Amino acid sequence: KFEELAQTPPMGWNSWNTFQTNIDEPLLKGMVDTYVSSGMKDAGYTYFVLDDGWMSMDRDKDGNLVADPKKFPNGMKEFADYVHSKGLKFGIYNCAGTKTCAGYPGTRGYEYQDARLYASWGVDYLKFDWCNTDGINAKEAYTTMSMAIRAAGRPMVFSLCEWGNHQPWRWAKDVGQLWRSTGDIYVGFEKNLSKGSWTALSVLSILDKQDSIRQYAGPGHWNDPDMLEVGNGMKYNEDKAHFSLWCMLAAPLMAGNDLRKMTDQTKSILTNKDLISVDQDALGIEAFRYYSFDGIEIWVKPLSNNEVAVCFLNRSDHPQTINYNWKGHVISDPINKVNYNFNADTYKLRDLWTKKEIGTTAKNFEQTIPSDDVVVLRLTK
Ligand code: GLA
Repeated sequence: KFEELAQTPPMGWNSWNTFQTNIDEPLLKGMVDTYVSSGMKDAGYTYFVLDDGWMSMDRDKDGNLVADPKKFPNGMKEFADYVHSKGLKFGIYNCAGTKTCAGYPGTRGYEYQDARLYASWGVDYLKFDWCNTDGINAKEAYTTMSMAIRAAGRPMVFSLCEWGNHQPWRWAKDVGQLWRSTGDIYVGFEKNLSKGSWTALSVLSILDKQDSIRQYAGPGHWNDPDMLEVGNGMKYNEDKAHFSLWCMLAAPLMAGNDLRKMTDQTKSILTNKDLISVDQDALGIEAFRYYSFDGIEIWVKPLSNNEVAVCFLNRSDHPQTINYNWKGHVISDPINKVNYNFNADTYKLRDLWTKKEIGTTAKNFEQTIPSDDVVVLRLTK
């Protein structure tokens, strides 16, 4: 049922960040195959989502959308069947406006017809964008598409891509399962900024917009800080920090790299089961920024079974040594009324990147964190 979808943040792969509209069936079938053989599927990734650029420039004589016959010579149903045959779920993209962001036919005025077509193809996930929407009310437009999906009778995760301008977190809880909270993520070189320059990235600016809306996220309705750029040109530590922070935020984890060319390092980030289990925790609580001083931040994510994830982020331009005295602190979630009293209780610490048990909160946590890097700990009583 629509209401029961995405009880944990959706995980998958989306074509946009690497390929933009340069997608076709052979490329994508190769991607589907690698999705499975690389271990992404086993790590919990489920959706395979085509972004903008899959359509012909015109609807057919009946007003139906058509998959571009050059890119998809066997049609979209056949492609969806291929995705399903590998045990994955299939997602597709369109837009609330008259045209998509890349200029393909939009859904405006065709909501019910398009939803029926997607259902007939076996679509399981719809990303719905917000270009070319002059004069359209966001809440109404997304609600119409949400109703069209329900009427089409096939459960589809509905991903709102409105970039946060109309504060979807305030009204989209029952409209879709996730909503973009900001503009597009990008890695530096896409905008001719120096490659791998973390401060030039959008990752941190997106991060800074999440803390104030965390109370709106929960099972079945997620803030979406946009898709992952892991493996798309950042340095190892930046990729690792980006992935860790997205897991702390209970973000949808949509990989956006070329899986066929993924290095072992990239794979080790995207399939880190300890981090994924933080992201996928059943409580669905988004982390809060507990501490911020001199470029060091501490993010805290309450987990089920009285566990908690703590992420130390060094966003300064030099290594910094943390010497954290747990015993002096009670950490309280300002919204969810959960307390971690380190005077009364001792927790065991697991480092989720080194995968080592590193003692308890009875002792100070002392470690030097390189610039643009993180340490993520899971605390268990
Ligand atoms: C917008 C979205 C992106 C992507 C493109 C496609 O910019 O925010 O995620 O879907 O459109 O054109």
